[in-house]
Amino acid sequence: MAIVFHKEQNYFSLTTNQTEYQIKIDRYGHVLHSHYGNIVNQDMSYLFSYEDRGFSGSPAVAGTDRTYSLDVLPQEYPVFGMGDYREGALELENADGSYGVEFVYKEHKILDEKYSLQGLPASYRNNNEKVSTLEITLMDDITQIEVKLLYGVFEEKDIITRATKVVNLGKEKINLLKVDSVSLDKNLEKELDVIHFHGRHNMERQYERTAIGNSMFSIGSHRGSSSHQHNPFMILCDKETTEAYGESYGVMLMYSGNFLGTVEKTQFNQVRSTMGIGRQGFRYPLEKGEEFIAPEVILSFSNDGLTKLSQNYHTFIKNNVVRGEYKYKRRPILINNWEATYFDFDEEKLLDIARESSEVGIELLVMDDGWFGKRNDDNTGLGDWFVNLEKIPGGLKNLTTKVNQMGMKFGIWFEPEMVSEDSDLYRKHPEWSINIPNRTGVRSRNQFVLDLSRADVRDYLVEQISAILDSGNIEYLKWDMNRSLSNVYSESLKPSEQGKFYHLYVLGVYEILERLTSAYPYILFEGCSGGGGRFDAGMLYYTPQIWTSDNTDAIDRLRIQHGTSFGYPINTNGSHVSAVPNHQTGRITPLATRGMVAMTGTFGYELDITSLSKEEKEAIKKQISHFKENYDTIHEGEYYRLSNPWENEVFTAWQIVSKKRDKILLNIIRTRQYANDPIFTVKLKGLVESSHYRLIGTDKVFTGASLMNGGWEVPRAKEEYQGFEFEFEVVE
Ligand code: GLA
Repeated sequence: MAIVFHKEQNYFSLTTNQTEYQIKIDRYGHVLHSHYGNIVNQDMSYLFSYEDRGFSGSPAVAGTDRTYSLDVLPQEYPVFGMGDYREGALELENADGSYGVEFVYKEHKILDEKYSLQGLPASYRNNNEKVSTLEITLMDDITQIEVKLLYGVFEEKDIITRATKVVNLGKEKINLLKVDSVSLDKNLEKELDVIHFHGRHNMERQYERTAIGNSMFSIGSHRGSSSHQHNPFMILCDKETTEAYGESYGVMLMYSGNFLGTVEKTQFNQVRSTMGIGRQGFRYPLEKGEEFIAPEVILSFSNDGLTKLSQNYHTFIKNNVVRGEYKYKRRPILINNWEATYFDFDEEKLLDIARESSEVGIELLVMDDGWFGKRNDDNTGLGDWFVNLEKIPGGLKNLTTKVNQMGMKFGIWFEPEMVSEDSDLYRKHPEWSINIPNRTGVRSRNQFVLDLSRADVRDYLVEQISAILDSGNIEYLKWDMNRSLSNVYSESLKPSEQGKFYHLYVLGVYEILERLTSAYPYILFEGCSGGGGRFDAGMLYYTPQIWTSDNTDAIDRLRIQHGTSFGYPINTNGSHVSAVPNHQTGRITPLATRGMVAMTGTFGYELDITSLSKEEKEAIKKQISHFKENYDTIHEGEYYRLSNPWENEVFTAWQIVSKKRDKILLNIIRTRQYANDPIFTVKLKGLVESSHYRLIGTDKVFTGASLMNGGWEVPRAKEEYQGFEFEFEVVE
C-alpha cells in the first residue's frame, strides 16, 4: 500500500515509485507538512524548527511555550487569522463576523480507490493501477467546521492529487472567502525559480522563469475562465534545474474558472505555494449541513529535471484525466473552414472543401462559426441554435449525408455559453444573461454570457444542442467560449449568494459537458476559448483536445506549443496547417514547416483547400500519409524539448521517442538564418546509449551514445523558416 500511517510517530507517508509525501500529526493535533520529494523512509519532522521568535506567536493550545508557532511550522492546510501570517489556504468568516478557526486532526481513512468529486472533474484510476486515497478530517471544535483533506496517490505515475472539502456541521451560516486546493510548505535549501505560462489572446502559454525573491509571486485569473493570460499551472524548481537535471515540483489546478496560484518566500527562508479558486469574486455562504468542494490539484515531483516532470504530466493526463472513446482511438485528421471562409460560406462551398479534402486523405470536415441563426458576422445570433437555411438549404441531415458519402466525417462549432444582444434568445430571455440589474453590461464581441448557474438555462442548452446533434450524423463538436465574464449577477441567487456565481458558472459548464459527452460518447469534443483561453486539466476531462491558439503561425506556435508542453501532452493540442501569408502575423513559412509544427499536435488543416495548387495538394497528401504512419509514435510516444525558443533564436528542436522506443522523430525548425552560417548542433535525448539507430532513408547508423553525447548538426536553411525532420529506427 502506498499510503502508510506510522502510528507510533503519528505520520502518514504517501509513496509513489520515486517520490514521497509526508504528513505529520503533531502533539497538539495540528496537521503539518513534513516532506515532499525523493523517497526518504523516515519521519522528517525532525526538521521542524522550534525557537522563540519575535512576532510569531503561539496558539492557545501551546500554553506559554514560546517556541511553538504556526507562523513557522510547515502546514498541510493553513488558515488565515490565527497566527500564521503567511498566505492562508482557507479564509472564512464565522457567523459572528470573526475569521478565527483552528483545525486539529479528527480522523482519517485510507481507501483502496481514487476519490471522486461531486460535480467537478477529477482524475481517475484505470483497471489494475495502484491508486489509493487518504482522507484526513480536521475539525474546529468551537465552530464545528470540518475540513477534509483528500490525497490521491498514483504510485506508478509519480503523481499525488489533492482536493479539499469544507463541511459546516455548526448551527449557523458561515462565509467562505478563500478555499485553496493545496498549500505546500518547504524549507529553502537553495534559491528557487518559478516557471509559469502567461500570455494573451493569440499568444498563450508563454514560458517565463522567475527567481523567487522576498516577495509574493502570484498568477491567476478573475475572468471566469482559466484564461489566456495565465495558465493554472506552475513549476517550482531549483535555480540550477535544467531539462535533464535537478529538482522540480509541478502544481496544476484541474479547474476551468477563476484561480490564484501564489509562491511566497517567507521571513525564515521557507517557501509556501498555494493554488486554488482564489478570493476575487468569491464569497461562498455555507449553510448548516452544507459542504463546499474545492477542485483537484495535480502534483508531481521530479528529481531528474523538467523533461521528466512534463512526461509525468503527459502520461497522467493521457491516461487518468482524458476520458471517452477518443482517449486511445486515433483522432481523425480534420479540415476546419474558419480561416478558409470565416462567415462567408454556404453548403456548396463546404461541399467543395470536403470533396477536395477527401481526395488528399483528410477525414473530417468541421463547419465552424456562422451556420446558425442570422450569424453573418460576430455581432449577432449566438443563442439561436437553428440552422441558417439560407446558407445550408438542405439542412444538416442532407449536408452530413453528402459529406459522409465523400468518405468524410462531419463536425460542428458551438458557443453554448453565450448570447448575442441581437438574437431571438436574448430578446425572449434577457434575464438569462448575467448582467447587474439596471446596468448595461460590458460588451465583448457584442455578446453577453448566459447564466449557467440556472438549471433552466442549462436544460435549454442541452436540449438545443442535442436537437442539432440528432439532426444529422455529427461526429465532432468544437465548444467555444469567446469572452471573459464581467458584471456577474444572477437573478436566481439571493444577494448574499452572488459570491457563489463564478464557481456555479464553472459547475454549470461541467454539468452540460458531462450530460452531452455521456449522451454522445462517439462524438469527439474539442475545447476552445478564442484558441487556448481555457486550456486546463478541467476541460481536458470532458474534451480530449483543445484548440491551442487562434494563432496558427508556425513560428509563433513554436513558443506557444513549447510552453503548453510543460504540462499538457501533445495529443491534447489542437493544431492546424493554415494558409500563408498567415492571417494572424502575415508571415510566410514553407508548407513543410507548417506541417511539422501542426503534426506535433492533433493535426489538421484550416485553409481553403480549393484554392491550392496541384503541387500543394500533393504535398498535403504526403504530409497526411506521413502523419498516419507516425500517429502512434507522435501521440503515444515520449516528448522531449531539445531547445528553448525563448533562449535560442536560431532554431527550435524537439524529439519524440515511440512508446516501444524503436522509433525516433527529430524536428528542427530554423527560426533565424545567417549568411555563412555558424555551426549549430543539438543533442538527442531518451535513447539507449548502446543501441544503434538508422537514419531512415539512408544506410547511416549511429549509436545512441553518439546522438546523445555528440549530437546532430542543425542543417543550414535554404529558405526562411525551413523545417527539418529526421526519422531514426532502432536496428539492433
Ligand atoms: C474563436 C475560435 C476560432 C473560431 C472563431 C469563430 O475565436 O478560437 O477558432 O472558431 O471563434 O468565431
